[in-house]
Amino acid sequence: MSSRSTPPNRRRTCWRHARLATFAAGSPWGWIDDGALVTEGAHLAWVGAEADLPSNLQVDDEVDLHRALATPGLIDAHTHLVYGGDRAGEFEQRLQGATYEEIARAGGGIRSTVAATRAASDEALFQGAARRARILMAEGVTTLEVKSGYGLAQAHEARCLAAARRLARELPLDVRTTSLAAHALPPEFAGRPDDYIDAAITWLAGQQARGLVDAVDAFCDTIGFTPAQTERIFNEAQRLGLPVKLHAEQLSDQDGAALAARFGALSCDHLEHLSARGVAAMKAAGTVAVLLPGAYYFLRETKLPPVPALREAGVPIAIATDHNPGSSPALSLVLMLNMACTLFRLTPEEAWRGVTVHAARALGLPDRGVLAAGQRADFAVWDAEHPREIAYRFGHNPCRRVVHAGVERTM
Ligand code: NIG
Ligand code: FE
Repeated sequence: MSSRSTPPNRRRTCWRHARLATFAAGSPWGWIDDGALVTEGAHLAWVGAEADLPSNLQVDDEVDLHRALATPGLIDAHTHLVYGGDRAGEFEQRLQGATYEEIARAGGGIRSTVAATRAASDEALFQGAARRARILMAEGVTTLEVKSGYGLAQAHEARCLAAARRLARELPLDVRTTSLAAHALPPEFAGRPDDYIDAAITWLAGQQARGLVDAVDAFCDTIGFTPAQTERIFNEAQRLGLPVKLHAEQLSDQDGAALAARFGALSCDHLEHLSARGVAAMKAAGTVAVLLPGAYYFLRETKLPPVPALREAGVPIAIATDHNPGSSPALSLVLMLNMACTLFRLTPEEAWRGVTVHAARALGLPDRGVLAAGQRADFAVWDAEHPREIAYRFGHNPCRRVVHAGVERTM
C-alpha cells in the first residue's frame, strides 16, 4: 500500500475478485471471470484478470468484491427529465379510447406539459428532475442525457437546460444536455410553425454561449416538424459545431433518419417506422439507433423497429428510457433491458451493450461505456453472477454499489 497522503486525483483503489462484463470488443460480454479493476482518481488505470495483476502494483485501498458482478456504469442516452406536472389524466383518457395523436392534436399531450413547465419555478423544475435522476441512479446510472423541449420559449428552454446542468453539479452524475426546442409548436405560434422554427434557430447560439447545450434534437413527425423545418434547425446546429440527434420515424416514416445521417447525427431515436433506406444511411454515417421500448410499450405500438435489418447492417443499437411524462413515464433502465429483449427481441448482450458502450457512442462520449484502462472509473456492482440475469428478471433492483468518477456513491 502507498501513503495515505496520495492526492485524491492520484489515489489508487484495487477492486478485486469481480466477475467482469467489460463490454470490450472481441469476446462475448468482454467477460473476465475473476477480474480486478484499479481506479486512479476518476479513471481506470488497469483492468484484467486477477492472475495478471502486476506484482509491483502500488495501491492506497483494496476492496474484495467476493465474486460479485461488475459492469460499466449505465448510460441513459435519451430522457426528457426536466418538466412540470404529469400526464396521469391523459393516461386515463387513453384508456377510455383517445389516442396519443388525438390528444396531441386537441392541444393536450406535449403542450399540456409545456403549460405546467412554464408555470413551475426553477427550483421546482430542478427538484422534480433530481428526484427522478436519483431513482435512475439507484440502478447504476452514471451518465444521463436530458433534453429540453417543454419550455418552447427562449427563457423557458434555457431554464430547463440550466436545471439539467445543475443536476450534474449537485448529484454524483454526468449529464449531457440536448436542446429540443423543435419538439412541439407552442400556442403563441399556432398555425405558424416556420416562424417558430425561425425563432428557435436564434436561441441556439445563446444556449451554446452559456454552456447549456451539448447537442441539438428535433421531433420530425406528423405531429412534430417537417423534414424541411428539421433541416433548418440542423443547419444552425452545424454552423455552431453542435452535433445533432433526431426523434425519427416514431409514428410515421418521414425519411428523417436519412436527413439526420446527412448531418452525421450521433443518433436517431425511436425508429419504429424506419425504412431500409434509413438503415443504410445510418450505417454509412455511423449513426447509433436508440430504441425506446418504454414508449413503444406505453403507447401500445404494434410496429416494431427493424431490429434484424439494423443488426444485419451493423448499426450500433442503444436502449434508453425516453423518460417523459407523456409517452414513457419509465424510471428504470434495468426494466428497459428486459423490455428490449422481450418486445424488440434483442439478445441480453445486445441490450446491455445498448445501455453501456453504444449508449456512450450515442452521446459522443468515447471515454465510457467499457471497462478498460484509460476509461472513466464509472461502474456498478450487482447482486447477480451474470448480466443476463439482470435482463431476465423484471421489477427488481439488483444494483448494490456504484462508483462514479472513481468515488463510491452512498446508496
Ligand atoms: O420521445 N416523441 C416526442 N417526444 C416524446 C414524447 C413527449 C411527450 O409526449 O411529452 C417522446 O416520446
Ligand atoms: Fe423522446
